[in-house]
Amino acid sequence: VKYSVNPLVDAVNAPPIANVHRWVQERRPDANISLLDVAQAVPIDPPDVGLRRRIADLLVADGLHRYTSIAGLPELREGLAAYMTSTHQVFAKAPGITASDVVITAGCNQAYCAVMQALAGPSDEVIFPLPFYFNHQMWLDMLAVKARHIPFAPASGGVPTVDDFACRINENTRALVVISPNNPTGAVYSPQLLDQLFNLAREAGIAMVLDETYQDFRPDFKAPPHRLFERSDWRETFVQLFSFSKSYALTGYRLGSIVGGPLLIEAVTKIQDCTNICAPRLSQMMGALALESEGAWLTQQATDMAARVTALREAFAQPWYGFELVSAGAWFAYVRHPFAGRTATEVARHLAQVHGVLCVPGDMFGPGQEAYLRFAFANLKVDEIPELLSRLRAAATD
Ligand SMILES: Cc1ncc(COP(=O)(O)O)c(C=O)c1O
Repeated sequence: VKYSVNPLVDAVNAPPIANVHRWVQERRPDANISLLDVAQAVPIDPPDVGLRRRIADLLVADGLHRYTSIAGLPELREGLAAYMTSTHQVFAKAPGITASDVVITAGCNQAYCAVMQALAGPSDEVIFPLPFYFNHQMWLDMLAVKARHIPFAPASGGVPTVDDFACRINENTRALVVISPNNPTGAVYSPQLLDQLFNLAREAGIAMVLDETYQDFRPDFKAPPHRLFERSDWRETFVQLFSFSKSYALTGYRLGSIVGGPLLIEAVTKIQDCTNICAPRLSQMMGALALESEGAWLTQQATDMAARVTALREAFAQPWYGFELVSAGAWFAYVRHPFAGRTATEVARHLAQVHGVLCVPGDMFGPGQEAYLRFAFANLKVDEIPELLSRLRAAATD
């Protein structure tokens, strides 16, 4: 008799981006055009060469082969605490963010998985808006945690209201989860909204989990994304997730972080001990160096991103035969396609096969998203954006 797979895992869809990448092979042989890959969010520039040289020197250092402590290298936890203190402009003397509030993980997806496993179990509930980041949903499905969805609000650029969350809280709710800047809509949530969400979560005795993978790519990256870390009580409610993948172009190094209060840190430490034990030491060393030395490089990346958003908005302000920019801000644009009656998957596959545009169909970000496509426009240089739009125009008039 054959073994069977856990039905909770079996029921989850195959990894979506891998599915999309298969369409590249299906491109028409006569389609003599280059591929514009705006599917997966991948930094176009590799990490700074100075950073890579420094890590090359470290490779021969003693002790690289050892585990680190579960929560990560002290210098990286300290560096991360200092970095968040600086980007979030935490001026309050106490309690601030300290190394003991930080756990270093093997990427932000792992950070999310550990945090959600620490917070919720079977039949508990978690609230988040549609469209969702598919991995957030997949993991909850595998844990048998119920995700309560807030319907998509295209008129407000996909930004939910505090009431959208409030009316979905019940005795089973353990957390609300938000991503800002958002994947897939690119929308940046205001500090005011994030403050209101904190108050709501605090009152309800649930966690507020904020994924800030794209925090450094907000158009106004010099302003703090929110002021939650200035609150004396943030550790009892707030949990922040971060990734080194986008800010420092370290996707393959697998490095992320959790910032939270002692209860959560203790719980995720148990989970990390049973999974990867610690994030890879070499990646942690690379992360510590990045935080220390890559400030100017990151500012340049953020400035380039702001230029791309401007170019994208200007391009979509032209008549584009029905492709409508619903939301954009950092890294992603969420676009309504003009083909009523065709699913987003059909449209995206056609764009890939015939027009060499690889994007992710809205269907992959939850129910009711068939009219939308996600473009990771940050994968393109500014001067490639008009080419993307002209291909969309060609598709609309096929
Ligand atoms: C919102 C969000 N969180 C987490 C991740 C995963 O980041 P990491 O590569 O650090 O696991 C991504 C990657 O696209 C993302 O968009």
